[in-house]
Amino acid sequence: MPEPVSFQAPKGTRDLLPPASGRHRLLIARFAALADAFGYGQIVSPMFEDLRVFERVGASTEIVSKEMFELVSRDDENRLALRPELTASVCRAFAQHRPLTPWKVFYEGPQFRYERPQAGRYRQFTQVGAEALGSDDPLLDVEMIALSWRFYESLGLRQVTLLLNTLGDPEGRPAYFAALESYLRSRAEELSIQSQTTLEHNPLRVLDSKRPQDEAVIADAPLMIDHLSAAAAEHFTAVRAGLDRLGIAYEISPRLVRGLDYYLRTTFEVAADALDSAQNAIGGGGRYDGLVEALGGPATPGVGFALGVDRTLLACDAEGVFDGPTQRPDVFVVDLTGGAEALALVDELASAGIRADRSYDNRSVKAQLKAANRADARLAVIVGDDELDAGTVQVKDLESGDQRAMARAQLLADIKSRLR
Ligand code: HAM
Repeated sequence: MPEPVSFQAPKGTRDLLPPASGRHRLLIARFAALADAFGYGQIVSPMFEDLRVFERVGASTEIVSKEMFELVSRDDENRLALRPELTASVCRAFAQHRPLTPWKVFYEGPQFRYERPQAGRYRQFTQVGAEALGSDDPLLDVEMIALSWRFYESLGLRQVTLLLNTLGDPEGRPAYFAALESYLRSRAEELSIQSQTTLEHNPLRVLDSKRPQDEAVIADAPLMIDHLSAAAAEHFTAVRAGLDRLGIAYEISPRLVRGLDYYLRTTFEVAADALDSAQNAIGGGGRYDGLVEALGGPATPGVGFALGVDRTLLACDAEGVFDGPTQRPDVFVVDLTGGAEALALVDELASAGIRADRSYDNRSVKAQLKAANRADARLAVIVGDDELDAGTVQVKDLESGDQRAMARAQLLADIKSRLR
């Protein structure tokens, strides 16, 4: 026999047990229903991809350069990695299958990032999200933001802020990047050591620093929003007008920098004000025209967003909204004949979609009724030897205490009508 050991879920991962897992599942189902109503179909793509798919979309971001889980594969033809996000996979799938456009898809599933775990930051976490490929209409950006915003609203979240920014287009960006870099270099010695390193490979990300030492330099840095090309400015104005038209309030956040490199033009994030500021981004997205091309497809504009399910649920906890689905059984079967009747009744009721539970191990009637109360069941169905002989059952309403006998053949119809 091997030595007894005690295992735990790997660092940064969690087991989701009932009832928490039921709430997680309900949130995903709600998102799928809303995305479906907005005309998005589901894409289910692999959890791992050719590592170069991710390298293509963000080689200079931490998510790709430092946080990827690479797989050791038995054939070493391709280097593979667990997906850190899904936008790259969706664009890879688009380039591979060439569907008709506009192509509107949604997804749900786990993502993997080798991060330092803390509350709301995990190495395996779930996202739901949507992507729309094939149109650069600014009103599609608005639709995407609306889909995410309406979802947060539907959960009951109220303490959330929509942050909006634009990262310009290829016409305006080079001049802005040059201005930003030269400004940051001129004040480099005032920056933290970490931001000095960031400046070397990705000056824009310096704006994302939350370190107090960097605050003063960042406050005076030139902003993309002041260096937009005419076309990018027009796009942004149209996005703002669309949000106004839908009555969706937003804050312009000119220093909002997303953690991935592929964004152009519109970017947005939703912050949960009830969460600690380090982990208060419950969702985000934006436009990424050029990404499909980078993955070998035709030039195709795209826009999308993803929402962190785990963090969104933390925000719901903090606001006391979005209860999970009920675990409450509709019926608890109390069997005084040894257990085989409960077996048959649970089989019949559950097969008809009625949530049914029972006790095991031939417990006493008292113990079984106690278990029914503890489970908070609405009804108890009781069978003893007399009922078995007469082809009847007793049905007890556990809320009112009312109890009556009925023919077993009528049980299903009776329970269905009571639960309606
Ligand atoms: P992202 O901002 O990296 O964007 O992730 C989206 C959301 O996933 C975050 O706002 C956060 O709620 C959640 N999240 C990220 N990392 C973690 C983590 N370690 N633990 C828990 N939750 C986390 C993207 O992934 C883009 N693909 C979004 C997008 C879609 N852009 C365009 N289309």
